[in-house]
Amino acid sequence: MNILLLGSGGREHALAWKMAQSKLTKKLYIAPGNGGTEEVGENISLNISNFEETKRFLISKNISLVVVGPEQPLVNGFTDNLANDLELNHINVIGPKKIGATLEGSKDFSKQFMFRNGVPTAAYQSFTKSTLSEGLAFLETLKPPYVLKADGLAAGKGVLILDDLAEAKQELTSMFEGKFGEASNTVVIEEFLDGIELSVFVVTDGKDYVILPEAKDYKRIGEGDKGLNTGGMGAVSPVPFAKGEFLQKVEEKVIKPTINGLAKDRIEYKGFIFFGLIKVNNEPYVIEYNVRMGDPETEVVIPRIKSDLVALFDACAKGTLANYKLEVMDETALTIVAVSGGYPGNYEKGKLISGIRDAQAGIYFHAGTKSDGDDLVTSGGRVIACTGFGNTLVKAKNNALTMVNSLKFQGKYNRKDIGNDLEGLI
Ligand code: AMP
Ligand code: GLY
Repeated sequence: MNILLLGSGGREHALAWKMAQSKLTKKLYIAPGNGGTEEVGENISLNISNFEETKRFLISKNISLVVVGPEQPLVNGFTDNLANDLELNHINVIGPKKIGATLEGSKDFSKQFMFRNGVPTAAYQSFTKSTLSEGLAFLETLKPPYVLKADGLAAGKGVLILDDLAEAKQELTSMFEGKFGEASNTVVIEEFLDGIELSVFVVTDGKDYVILPEAKDYKRIGEGDKGLNTGGMGAVSPVPFAKGEFLQKVEEKVIKPTINGLAKDRIEYKGFIFFGLIKVNNEPYVIEYNVRMGDPETEVVIPRIKSDLVALFDACAKGTLANYKLEVMDETALTIVAVSGGYPGNYEKGKLISGIRDAQAGIYFHAGTKSDGDDLVTSGGRVIACTGFGNTLVKAKNNALTMVNSLKFQGKYNRKDIGNDLEGLI
């Protein structure tokens, strides 16, 4: 089949790399893609907010499967637009319609969904500008740290965790004054959960589901998890503290009630669900839902899957996931993201990249790269995710470090401590 993949990050390179290996794939297009995806498919420029242009492309290239990498097109109704068009509604889309995407697009919606369906999560209340005084009073009833979340999408920056009550009150006020634009018109204030985070992913058709390998990501820019939040500086899969019994609890207490909730609420859903979890006293709580894969989690999850990914997507589209058996390799995958100097603040682009060697025990997944004639240059903050494999976490990490160390571009920075907190747990 001919496939279109939307997106341009490391996640999309990993998905494209895997889909290109499938016997079911005839032609793979990536819009817009990056310097890595063009090695495994054809990058195209397509303005997906222009429906007519998108429709012409899908028809002329005889696309039968679209895989949506990032959340924004889903929140904007990309899947609905195809489903509502008589000439396009035969195309299978991996990615939910707008209503399903609201699980990520609105924290208030997702918290209501979790409470309605008995999914464990932090206690919360939501407020708007007109209920500011109630919000301030609610903060006074809580113990620090205070967790304030902009309801809408805020480029991963909409969550504030504050130790000081006066500061929390000030931030709540400024969120209603447009700190995160319209995303903070509604603010969720929730109980702080003290535990260790991990992510679990499923592919679901809204009825059945297949659980993918779990992962842990490292969001802060600095070693020891210090400094500013980023899109993700590294990831590890499997997660040593998430063994059989705990994952069983995740399935029973989190995954099943979520999928049943979708059915009960009549939310049609075909695609990924990313459960951002926190483990507190050996119990899983949901911090957030995402309606896509994580980045850089995808760069460790996907390479561990031995099964055919396109066959998995096909089973999702056809409603036959119940019979699908996913095969996963036992090896550990650990990725270290090389970023542009200055990221997550301002950084320069267009730096020449060299040193991508044929890695025996790993894969370079491109994120912010593009080709410039015969050269490869940086084009984003997160540049390349270096995924190493090994039969222990330490070996996987050493392979990833060798790969990242051989990579060269002006201003390159990477963390050297990805996975260090887990080593003692193996
Ligand atoms: P989110 O965008 O909802 O994933 O939140 C960003 C980060 O804030 C999470 O990855 C957690 O590290 C942290 N966080 C969010 N909610 C809570 C909570 N209720 N308790 C503790 N940490 C939280
Ligand atoms: N790495 C976190 C995310 O993709 O949201």
